[in-house]
Amino acid sequence: MSVESTTGPLTTESGAPVSDNQNSETAGIGGPGLIQDQLLIEKLAHFNRERIPERIVHARGAGAYGTFTVTADVTKYTRAKFLSEIGKQTETFLRFSTVAGSLGAADAVRDPRGFALKFYTEEGNYDLVGNNTPIFFIKDAIKFPDFIHTQKRDPYTGSQEADNVWDFWGLSPETTHQVTWLFGDRGIPASFRHMNGYGSHTFQWVNAAGEAFWVRYHFKTDQGIKNLTQAEADKVAGEDPDSHQRDLRTAIERGDFPTWTVQVQVMPVAEAAAYRFNPFDLTKIWPHADYPPIEFGKLELNRNPENIFAEVEQSAFSPSHFVPGIGPSPDKMLQGRLFAYADAHRYRVGINADHLPVNRPHATEARNYGRDGALYDGRHGRQKNYEPNSFGGPVETGQPLWQSVAVTGPSGEHVAPTHAEDNDFVQAGDLYRLMTEDERERLINNLAGSLSQVSREDIAQRAIENFRKADADYGKRLEAAVQALRG
Ligand code: HEM
Repeated sequence: MSVESTTGPLTTESGAPVSDNQNSETAGIGGPGLIQDQLLIEKLAHFNRERIPERIVHARGAGAYGTFTVTADVTKYTRAKFLSEIGKQTETFLRFSTVAGSLGAADAVRDPRGFALKFYTEEGNYDLVGNNTPIFFIKDAIKFPDFIHTQKRDPYTGSQEADNVWDFWGLSPETTHQVTWLFGDRGIPASFRHMNGYGSHTFQWVNAAGEAFWVRYHFKTDQGIKNLTQAEADKVAGEDPDSHQRDLRTAIERGDFPTWTVQVQVMPVAEAAAYRFNPFDLTKIWPHADYPPIEFGKLELNRNPENIFAEVEQSAFSPSHFVPGIGPSPDKMLQGRLFAYADAHRYRVGINADHLPVNRPHATEARNYGRDGALYDGRHGRQKNYEPNSFGGPVETGQPLWQSVAVTGPSGEHVAPTHAEDNDFVQAGDLYRLMTEDERERLINNLAGSLSQVSREDIAQRAIENFRKADADYGKRLEAAVQALRG
């Protein structure tokens, strides 16, 4: 990124020298202002336009550049060039975030954390827009706007309301697994460095022979998992709202570069149909006993952005940004996200968002016939703006990036298929039973602290029933804890 010179005189936006930057022009001493004072007008007008719309979710975040290094041979699973050799390195940019809070919210809150990673590969940018949780609340994109409305501010009170939060969760039993995760110990990470990242969805990898696999990504923190209790978080959020952002920046400044060990679970495509869980259901994990994670890379963050607005606020990640050898799965959430992100960027940053320094390819260039729009930089010069043409220019390869998926049956608003052991509660119960007694105690207290704020008994009861269906003891203890708090 070129940096503006700090030598030479102060100038206006059009480069004319400024004679006085402290006193605006008036008609006479002590008189009214003048419209010829273009410096004042330009400064105030520019200032009024300094903000772009904040992200509708994940508004608050921090980012850093880094390096991804391949540590094991995965060429039998994918032909992605950036994964083609052990030792191969690719530049990355990672933006961490919270989900529900607006731009000025505190970092130390109970909320999933975003883990949005851009690989600047020689075949184009690959974006993996994940979270610090291997699962999510819902399994169909059509529910996402309703879900987020319940987590953000109520149209009347202007605050987040426990009634709305729990009404949605209770009426959407598939949330039980993720809610158990969120109110457990990992629900408030101590910092961005001390948590894992996940691709969460199932994606497709395709090898050079055209063989496809379903995969799930895991980024395991090498700093160790560290969390805050609710009481610790309340204190940190009050005293230092920027705790996570500062922690990341200062660690990198002192050369203490955070790293993650990167793993992948691989399912041969032929095994998907008979797998005990729907492998494309984002509310479920693939138990490691079924598909053991294979280590294949190391991610290190080692460079802070120079300018937060340019490089973090304007950074734009999209799950639709694939490279040859990697593609989507039929996960109904992922399918919705393939549209939603680039659309958000067109609205929030503008049609040329992908050409900003943080977003454009760094190891290759974008070559196409898209042109013009707000803030177009003229990079195509006099080249023809249509294809096919007889004057030269980029042409299609005829090589699809990923493998097509076989489908049957009529189109329609189908519920995602359930497999032999699928229901909305099985993995929530497994997670509860996996916890130590101390962990269960904290989980119940955290849940009860939130649920006891619900004003309507029917909403609270419906939510408790979901936890009871996950595990009878879980539901019983939660009900008692909520009653005790309500008195
Ligand atoms: C259908 C469901 C979803 C929809 C429609 C959706 C939509 C969005 C939108 C519109 C943004 C703002 C993008 C921007 O303004 O740049 C966003 C941000 C984000 N979402 Fe989602 N989202 C969904 C589910 C998920 C899931 C399941 C995950 C994680 C597995 C996730 C992770 C993120 C992250 C990490 C960001 C922040 C990206 C950044 O740092 O710029 N979202 N989402």
